[in-house]
Amino acid sequence: MSIIKVAFFGSKNESKDFDPARDIQPLTGRVILITGAAGDLGRQTAIDLARHGRPAQIVIADLPRDAAGVEAALSAIRTALPPDTASTVRLDFLPIDLSSFASIRSAASAFLSLSSNRLDILILNAGIMPVSHGVTSDGYEKVFGVNYLGHALLTRLLLPTLQSTTSMNQDVRIVIVASEGHAMAPKGGIVFDTLKTEAKKLNHFRRYGQSKVALIAFAKELAQRYPDIKTAAIHPGRISTGLSTELVQKSWIIRLTGPISRFVVTTVELGARNQVWAATSADVVSGRYYVPVGVVDEKTVVERDQGLAGRLWEWTEGELKGVDKI
Ligand SMILES: NC(=O)c1ccc[n+]([C@@H]2O[C@H](COP(=O)([O-])OP(=O)(O)OC[C@H]3O[C@@H](n4cnc5c(N)ncnc54)[C@H](OP(=O)(O)O)[C@@H]3O)[C@@H](O)[C@H]2O)c1
Repeated sequence: MSIIKVAFFGSKNESKDFDPARDIQPLTGRVILITGAAGDLGRQTAIDLARHGRPAQIVIADLPRDAAGVEAALSAIRTALPPDTASTVRLDFLPIDLSSFASIRSAASAFLSLSSNRLDILILNAGIMPVSHGVTSDGYEKVFGVNYLGHALLTRLLLPTLQSTTSMNQDVRIVIVASEGHAMAPKGGIVFDTLKTEAKKLNHFRRYGQSKVALIAFAKELAQRYPDIKTAAIHPGRISTGLSTELVQKSWIIRLTGPISRFVVTTVELGARNQVWAATSADVVSGRYYVPVGVVDEKTVVERDQGLAGRLWEWTEGELKGVDKI
């Protein structure tokens, strides 16, 4: 039922009045890392934060590409900025494949050598929703491995830097891009015994939903364990982006809902707003999950099952033991 509801109608909510041009306070001196920032929502998030906050540096972390591809990703951001901003905000490209522990570890080391020993805002934005089944190079269900576990490892590797940054800036944040797709997860939210398999019994909606439940749970648990860092999970809204390319080709339900979906999709500019809000607004309460823009949503399995976030944290600690230090 949830799959049909979300696929056909999306979710509609009252929104906070948030205008990046008016509401983003200066981010002077700050260092920001955004995963998946060569993609649509990540790129727009980088543009909004650079244009209106003028941080010292934004690191665009995305799948490795050749020199022309790196330049294309950076110039898509640079050319959207006024010339004086483009010359003051340093942009770097950080290659990372979130489906590989080895790649995540080398990206974290490379980030530490790129940046000035600080990380003020970490935005976990990259994501996939493939129709096909598969596992990551470390043997985890592909969608869960990229969307959740890869991000969990990256976060653990960068936590010492995030924590030490609080001595320079008390407003250090982690923003986690989840999805209303959490409602499509299998019963219970996370089926732990599928996580090291291809999860053949779960269709793409269920696998995507499971990974997004995990991200909402991750935000909740991070907020409890690291109260000096403000953490929020968000749903961006429904936007036509690179995320749906494979779905449009292979999923009958998406093709069926195509004519309707144009009435519920929004623009990339509006779609990036909730994560930009979560990265900058003083109203953010750590550990919560927000739908656009800035509206708390407690109707998730993570709230219904108060033990889920803790169980996921324990499971993750076990899986990442030995790889979560540089
Ligand atoms: N669009 C929506 O309606 C919607 C709704 C709810 C939630 N979201 C979430 O919003 C986030 C951003 O998605 P988007 O809509 O902007 O889609 P997108 O344009 O496809 O951006 C996703 C980015 O993640 C990158 N990526 C994919 N696999 C990766 C990996 N293994 N390692 C590192 N990076 C990887 C992609 O790189 P390539 O392009 O090179 O593959 C792409 O740049 C995702 O977490 C998504 O789940 C989107």
